[in-house]
Amino acid sequence: MKIGIIGAGNIGGNLTRRLTALGHDVSVANSRGPETLTALAEETGATPVRVEEAARGAEIVVVTVPLKAVPDLPSGLLDGAADDVAVIDTGNYYPQRDGRIDAVEDDGLTESRWTEGHLGHPVIKAFNGTYAQDILDRHRPAGDPGRLALPVAGDDGAAKAKVRALIEELGFDTVDSGGIDDSWRQQPDTPVYGLQEGVEAVTKALAEASPERPAAFRA
Ligand SMILES: NC(=O)c1ccc[n+]([C@@H]2O[C@H](COP(=O)([O-])OP(=O)(O)OC[C@H]3O[C@@H](n4cnc5c(N)ncnc54)[C@H](OP(=O)(O)O)[C@@H]3O)[C@@H](O)[C@H]2O)c1
Repeated sequence: MKIGIIGAGNIGGNLTRRLTALGHDVSVANSRGPETLTALAEETGATPVRVEEAARGAEIVVVTVPLKAVPDLPSGLLDGAADDVAVIDTGNYYPQRDGRIDAVEDDGLTESRWTEGHLGHPVIKAFNGTYAQDILDRHRPAGDPGRLALPVAGDDGAAKAKVRALIEELGFDTVDSGGIDDSWRQQPDTPVYGLQEGVEAVTKALAEASPERPAAFRA
């Protein structure tokens, strides 16, 4: 599959490593330009590109930049992507890092709803509570008792199914955590955030979440 990854840090770098290892055709971009991604490209075989080119022809695009950088992404970012492109949002709002986002703090928008407003495209929220290192180290075949499960939220059923299939191919089970308005259930400091467990525990943790934004994640 042709996959574009915007952000080549902890999460974007490790997704590039694993997705290329699985044989996917990965284009990867960061803020500083493709010439700064030659080491990652040599290591993985991914194609380093400018942000504007990352989504070209892609069936899945992963946006994995700090939330504060989302408004800086170029408009038309998804122009040229496949018509049915699924856009994965891995983002989390850390006010200390991202600055105050009024729409999240005051209007109660979920972090991913805010992000999709900037992208102008629906997103599927996934990997936001996954340790970057686990993407490399903790993938397991289907049926393995140690296989971890990741919550996946999104409004578009077909896009969500495509993303869940990719995550399962990456070596993780998935749990449907609802739509984007429900995705507070997997935001920072919820029971499922950072939980390294299987389907049953992840399902239980999602059910136990509180819609109240935790004090540590308010500005
Ligand atoms: N780290 C984790 O374990 C983890 C786990 C789950 C979710 N997350 C969330 O996922 C997101 C990414 O986290 P991360 O830890 O991977 O971040 P990171 O290591 O800081 O990497 C961020 C990447 O985004 C790129 N970037 C920044 N601004 C950009 C722009 N305007 N255009 C294009 N690329 C831009 C950076 O490029 P340059 O280096 O060139 O600036 C860098 O490659 C965050 O919202 C984070 O909260 C992180």
